[in-house]
Amino acid sequence: MKKLDENRFDLRYINKFASLMTVGNGYFGLRASHEENYVGQTRGMYVAGIYNKATANEPSDLVNLPDMVGMNIELDGEYFSLITGEILSYQRQLNLENGELRRDIVWKNGAGSRFRLTFQRLAAKNDLHVLATKLTVTSLDKPAQMKIVTGIDAQQTNYGRQHLIEEKVRVAEGDLLQGIYKTTESGQTIALAACCTCSANGGIAHTAKNRQLLSAIKHDLPADAPFVLEKIGVIYTSLDGDLREQSPEEASEAALRSFSAAGYDALLHESAAEWAQFWKEKRIKVSSTRDFDQLALDFSVYQLEVMTPAHDERFSVGAKGLTGEGYKGHVFWDTEIFIIPFHLFTEPEKARKLLRYRYLKLKQALGKAASNGYEGALFPWESAFTGEEETPEFAAINIKTGKRQKVASALAEHHIVADIAYTVVKYYQNTLDDTFMKKEGLELLKETSRFWISRAEEEQGQLVIKDVIGPDEYTEHVDNNAFTNYMAWYNVKQALFFMDKYGDDDGQLKNRGHEFLKRLYLPKANDDKIIPQDDTFLSKPEIDLSRYKLAQGSQGILMDYSRQEVNEMQILKQADVVMLLYLLPDLFPRDILSKNLDYYEEHTIHDSSLSKAIHAIVAARAGDIDKSYQFFQESCLIDLGPNPHSSDEGLHAASLGAIWMAAMFGFANVSIKNQRLNLDPRLPSEWSELTFPLIFQGTRLHIAITHEQAVITKVAGDDLYIELKGNVFLVSNIVEVDLG
Ligand code: BGC
Repeated sequence: MKKLDENRFDLRYINKFASLMTVGNGYFGLRASHEENYVGQTRGMYVAGIYNKATANEPSDLVNLPDMVGMNIELDGEYFSLITGEILSYQRQLNLENGELRRDIVWKNGAGSRFRLTFQRLAAKNDLHVLATKLTVTSLDKPAQMKIVTGIDAQQTNYGRQHLIEEKVRVAEGDLLQGIYKTTESGQTIALAACCTCSANGGIAHTAKNRQLLSAIKHDLPADAPFVLEKIGVIYTSLDGDLREQSPEEASEAALRSFSAAGYDALLHESAAEWAQFWKEKRIKVSSTRDFDQLALDFSVYQLEVMTPAHDERFSVGAKGLTGEGYKGHVFWDTEIFIIPFHLFTEPEKARKLLRYRYLKLKQALGKAASNGYEGALFPWESAFTGEEETPEFAAINIKTGKRQKVASALAEHHIVADIAYTVVKYYQNTLDDTFMKKEGLELLKETSRFWISRAEEEQGQLVIKDVIGPDEYTEHVDNNAFTNYMAWYNVKQALFFMDKYGDDDGQLKNRGHEFLKRLYLPKANDDKIIPQDDTFLSKPEIDLSRYKLAQGSQGILMDYSRQEVNEMQILKQADVVMLLYLLPDLFPRDILSKNLDYYEEHTIHDSSLSKAIHAIVAARAGDIDKSYQFFQESCLIDLGPNPHSSDEGLHAASLGAIWMAAMFGFANVSIKNQRLNLDPRLPSEWSELTFPLIFQGTRLHIAITHEQAVITKVAGDDLYIELKGNVFLVSNIVEVDLG
C-alpha cells in the first residue's frame, strides 16, 4: 500500500501537512505538527465529544487539548530546527497501512556536525487512549551533548481561546507526568499522563511552570550510536465510557504504567494488526493508469476511520473530523449524507451509532422546533455535544465593508431534518434492522415528518415551503427550494410507509401526512428540462464565473460581491439540484440528469468541498464517464492537491467520504432499488479494475469490476438477490456477469 509522503520541508505547507498526516483512532486525533516549534505552526489534539464554550455567548469549540508531542532538542548547544543549519535529507511518511507517522532527517547544525533523527508516532487502534512516540537520535560525526525538553504543555488554545483550567499537575514516582484539566464551561475532566523511557540516561529533571509540565533529559551522545527516547502518553476524560468506577486521573495512571512497560515497538505491532484487519475488510482497490487514484481512495478510507468516534454514540463526526479546528468541530449534514454511507456499506453498526447520536439529541431538536413555532423535530444546522444549535450567529468579517456577515443557516437551512430521515431509511434498506427501525428509526421519521407538515404553508391551493436555504448556501431565503421540497416529501412518504409497516396507530399524523404528500408543491422540470432550484432562481441574472471557478474553494466571489448581491444572481456555491438527483435517482430520468448537470455546473463555483464528487456521481449515472472522472480527480485534490493552505484548519471530512462515494456510487454505480442491491458499473478508461468489499442486508460480498466483467463473490452470510445491469441474480457463491 502506498504511503502519504512529504519529501521536502516547506514552511508554507506546515499546517496543511499537519492536517493531512493526522494520526488518530476515532477517540482522539493528533495533528502532525512537528515536534520542534515553528512560528505559525498550529498544534492540535482533540478528543471526540470534548467541547467547551469559551464565553457564554459563543458556540462550543472542539477543545484543543494540551500538547504531548512537542520537543525542544538541543544538540551541542544548538536547537534542532529545520530553518537553521542544513537539511541533508528529509522524508516524512504517513503509513496508511499501519497508522504510523514517521519522519527521517539528516541535519547538519551550524557548527557542521551531522545528526540523524527519526521521529515516530501512532494513535493506538487497539487501545483508544494511547498515544505512543519514539525518537531516535544519532550523532554521525563525533560525540555530542544532547538535551531534550518535553512533557505536557497546556499553553495550547483554540486560536487564542483558552478552554481549560489546569487543576493539578504532578510527577509521580519520579517519571510519570500527569496533568488534570477541566473545561471551563462544560465541566469535563481531561487527564493526561506521559512517561519517557530512554535507552541511556545522563539525567532527568522535571519542572512545572506556566501551564507546562516538563522533563529535561540530558545525555552525552557517543559517535554513531543511536539514542532512543520513547514517550508513551495516555488520555482519559470524564466522558469515557470505559472508566470502570475509576476517575480519569486514576485510569490514566494505571493505564500508563502498563503501556509504557510494553514499549513503542510492541504497541505499534498490536495497533498495526488492527489496521491490517481493517484494510482487509474495507479497502477499495483500483488499477489505474494514475497511481494517485489509489492513494486518494486509501487516504479517504484511512481518514474516515480515524475521524469516526465509533466507541461512543453520544458523539458524531465534525466537519473536519479530528484533524483541526475548522467549523469548531461541529457536526453538520456532512455526517449523514457523506460519511455514513462508507460505514453503512462496510460496517453498518457504525452507521447505527451515528444515527443514534441524532436520536439521543431528539429532545433538543423538538425544543428547537417548538421555539421556532414548529411541530416535531428541527435538528440544529450545527451540532456538538449537547444537541443544541451551535451555528455561530456571524461569519467572518467582510474585509471590504468591515461588516460581520450574519449566518442564516440556523434559521433556515432546514434540509438537515430530511437528510437525517433519508439516512435512517437508507440504514434500514441496507440492514433490515427492525429493532432500530421500530424504535429510534420510526420516532425520528415521525418527528421529522411532523416538522415538515407544520413547516409547509398554504398558497394558492397547494402546500409550499418558504424562506429556506438549500444545500447551495449562496442562495438564501428562497421559496420552494427543489432539494428541500423533494426531500421533505420523501421524508413524510417514508414515515407513512414505516408507520404502516409497524402498525403505528397515530391516525392524525397519517392523515396529515397523506394530505401533505398530495398537496406539496414539487418543482417540475421546465420546457428545457431544467428543474428550477427554487421559485426565483432561473429568472435571476447570470455572470461569467470562470475566474471564480479557477480559484474555487476560496469563496473569492464574496470579496467582489456582497452576499445579498450573490443571492440575486444565478450563482451556486455547491451542488443543489444535482445533489437532489444523486439522492433520489428513481424520481428523475437520465436526460434530466444530464441537462441539469450541464446547466447547474455552469453556474456552480464549487466553493464548497461537498460539491465536486456529487457532480462526479451524477455525471457517471448520466453516462458521461469522462466528465465524471474529471470531477473525481478534482475532488481528490481538495485536500491532497498542491494548494498549500487548502487544509490548514483541518481536512474536509465530507469530501473524503465523497471520494469513496464517487467510486462506489458513481463508477460502480451501487444503489438500493426496491430494497435490493443494484449495480450498473462503468469504469473510466484510465481504470482497468475496481474491487471492493461491501455489506448488504447482512451478507458480505466482494465485488470486482473490469470493463468486460463484474464478478460478485459471497464472502459470508445468506444468499442474496442483486440486480446488475437490469438483470436479477442470486448470489450464493460467485456470479460472473458479462458487461460487454
Ligand atoms: C457547506 C455546507 C457544509 C459545511 C461543513 C459549508 O461550506 O456549504 O454544506 O455542511 O460547509 O462542511
